[in-house]
Amino acid sequence: MALVLVLIFSYLIGISKGQLRVGFYAETCPEAESVVSAVVRDALQSNPNTAAVLLRLHFHDCFVQGCDGSILIEDGPGAERHAFGHQGVGGFEVIERAKEQLETVCRGVVSCSDIVALAAREAVALASGPFYQVPTGRRDGRVSNISQAGDMPDVSDSIQQLKAKFLNKGLSEKDLVVLSAAHTIGTTACFFMTQRLYKFPPGGGSDPTINLEFLPELKAKCPQNGDVNVRLPIDRGSERIFDNQILRNIRDGFAVLQSDARLYEDQATKNVIDSYFGFLSPIFGPFFETDFVESIVRMGHIGVKTGSRGEIRRVCNAFN
Ligand code: HEM
Ligand SMILES: *[C@@H]1O[C@H](CO)[C@@H](O)[C@H](O)[C@H]1NC(C)=O
Repeated sequence: MALVLVLIFSYLIGISKGQLRVGFYAETCPEAESVVSAVVRDALQSNPNTAAVLLRLHFHDCFVQGCDGSILIEDGPGAERHAFGHQGVGGFEVIERAKEQLETVCRGVVSCSDIVALAAREAVALASGPFYQVPTGRRDGRVSNISQAGDMPDVSDSIQQLKAKFLNKGLSEKDLVVLSAAHTIGTTACFFMTQRLYKFPPGGGSDPTINLEFLPELKAKCPQNGDVNVRLPIDRGSERIFDNQILRNIRDGFAVLQSDARLYEDQATKNVIDSYFGFLSPIFGPFFETDFVESIVRMGHIGVKTGSRGEIRRVCNAFN
């Protein structure tokens, strides 16, 4: 009896808080999730790196103004998506294609921000990562402002800054590690490597935490004064497969991104990384995939607009 009351009560709280829920479109647009899946699968066939691009898009959407599709708006040079912190973000055309198809099957029902979250889920699964349930019901924001992307973490942030930026969004040190491990797929432009390889503070030169076997390899790919648009895998040796190799690489000095390397210098975040490689971890856990699902679902709740807030856009790159 007590349990039933607790369940009813938490359900009511859920409604009053306008929370997201799994299967939000089950009645209003049963095709919602399968349409997004199909569009993402199709996009991946022509470009396998689309999985990484879509996963990153979800992160960048959530960290500015909440997961509300604000990054999708294209209304001139003052649009949020042009912020420095969003450098290299893409996947917009995939989201737009899914939206177009959804508008033909259930007009005005599925939000662009939910499409972004669902596309990220599909991307992870197609990269051989875990498949998980995505709570939906986000509504799209009405603000897109280039000067409001200051919350984005930067590759050159200190570990304290990274932790603070995550904490600010309700995400823990563990979330920081587990979500950074999204770098298990995808690539970076040499643009983001310059400081780490040639101008590492305080004295210049390269980041001393880079494994000495790896340093010449990185420098060869991103030579000083070379083309900053050249791209290299972030997870050395495993860029297409979603797995915990990235954490192993970080531990062993094979991190590519400066921010990833910082995760092994702080006691709390180092402990999280090491927890996945304990002697008995393969049997008793913790399991990276399980923890990632928990963290990305949490990230997907940042600043969401539900109920009567926001809107359901007709196209994803413009307000109604
Ligand atoms: C902790 C702070 C983070 C920093 C400083 C950071 C920084 C970066 C940078 C500089 C790149 C390369 C971008 C490019 O050259 O196009 C990148 C790529 C990527 N990031 Fe992060 N990131 C962070 C966290 C995250 C999180 C939380 C996720 C997702 C959950 C994520 C997902 C990705 C993915 C999948 C790519 C590869 C994109 C591609 O291949 O085009 N990152 N990140
Ligand atoms: C964008 O944000 C800045 C800083 O918060 C603010 O001063 C400015 O008025 C905003 N611009 C628009 C168009 O809302």
